[in-house]
Amino acid sequence: MLESLSPFPADPILKLMGELKEDPRENKIDLGVGVYRNEQGDTPVLKAVKLAEARILENEQTKSYVGPAGNLGFNKAMSKLILGESHQTLIENRVRTIQTPGGCGALKALADLVGRAKKGAKVFVSQPTWANHEAIFDGSGLEVKYYRYYDKANSRLLFDEMMEDLNEATSGDLVLVHGCCHNPCGADLNQTQWQQFAELANQLGFTPFIDVAYQGFGANLEADAQGLRVVADQCKEVLIAASCSKNFGLYRERTGVAMLICDTPEHADVALSQMLAATRANYSMPPSHGASIVEEILNSELKSVWVDELEEMHGRIASLRKQLNQALKARGAHQFDFIEQQNGMFSFLGLSEAQVETLKKDYAIYMVGSSRINIAGINDANVDYLADAIVAVI
Ligand code: LMR
Repeated sequence: MLESLSPFPADPILKLMGELKEDPRENKIDLGVGVYRNEQGDTPVLKAVKLAEARILENEQTKSYVGPAGNLGFNKAMSKLILGESHQTLIENRVRTIQTPGGCGALKALADLVGRAKKGAKVFVSQPTWANHEAIFDGSGLEVKYYRYYDKANSRLLFDEMMEDLNEATSGDLVLVHGCCHNPCGADLNQTQWQQFAELANQLGFTPFIDVAYQGFGANLEADAQGLRVVADQCKEVLIAASCSKNFGLYRERTGVAMLICDTPEHADVALSQMLAATRANYSMPPSHGASIVEEILNSELKSVWVDELEEMHGRIASLRKQLNQALKARGAHQFDFIEQQNGMFSFLGLSEAQVETLKKDYAIYMVGSSRINIAGINDANVDYLADAIVAVI
């Protein structure tokens, strides 16, 4: 039976990871996969995580199942981290949160839930969006539609165009928005635009679906959640997928949450039961370790250790954005100010696929074919070489 299959094209980000690994050149630069790196190019385990792990090792009593919704203490702490300590939706008991295997698991759980509510529901995603969104939604039987979001040629957000395209969305449709640090373009909505988006959702009746994978990497934990909180304040029904991969550095521990906000606690309970039925049929129950770490950090004095580390990661990214732009300017390339203005780990350089290929072949510089770069892959030792190479290909 299996011989009837034809090969499936590799995911562009994962394919790049493989190619980079095989490249023997010592000066290679990895601007590909979205993993935070320090000045030495490493992705170390955070101090707060190590301390939490030591406590877990000491105190863990069982390896029995965590239960379908996962770690309840983690779910509660994450709900507060994302929505704020005393958000109205929490007070009104309209939020239900489950632990998921990473942000991908959260997207999948929510997409499956939507599929149960409405077969073939439409989900509008930004053009461009993260490469895996389409695959996840498609896999859950949803119909993927696009709205204009970013003009690569002119490096600018297309908010008016986005609003125009979303006029097509209606009750029973979903609109996916990146909560902060848009992946891949780094351009986010401002507060006024979030407000307008929430108003449009109410006017047309579509359900906002927010993917927040980089809380803390844009400005800080609070500011990065302001947009989604505006939506949660104003819309009766909202879906949120969140990841702890980046801000807790827990990539391989696959730690995230799927949250749903409904108009009433009763509807939230019913929706939760359907979401849990979907995850039960998928991976049954989530793994324990990553969520235990996050629970320990968020509910103890380790939180301030973590917040400092997060601030350090954010600060390093912001300063690298500046450094790269200044290095390009010093070489006569004055069109890259947007790199400094954008948020999070990613920006598009605005290069063609051929230019990206030349950077890989001739300079051992790896980035996704769209010219998305992971800013955290830059460091003091490679920024000049990188700027030279970019200027050489443009
Ligand atoms: C990325 O966009 O590079 C990361 O989110 C990693 C991934 O899974 O694609």
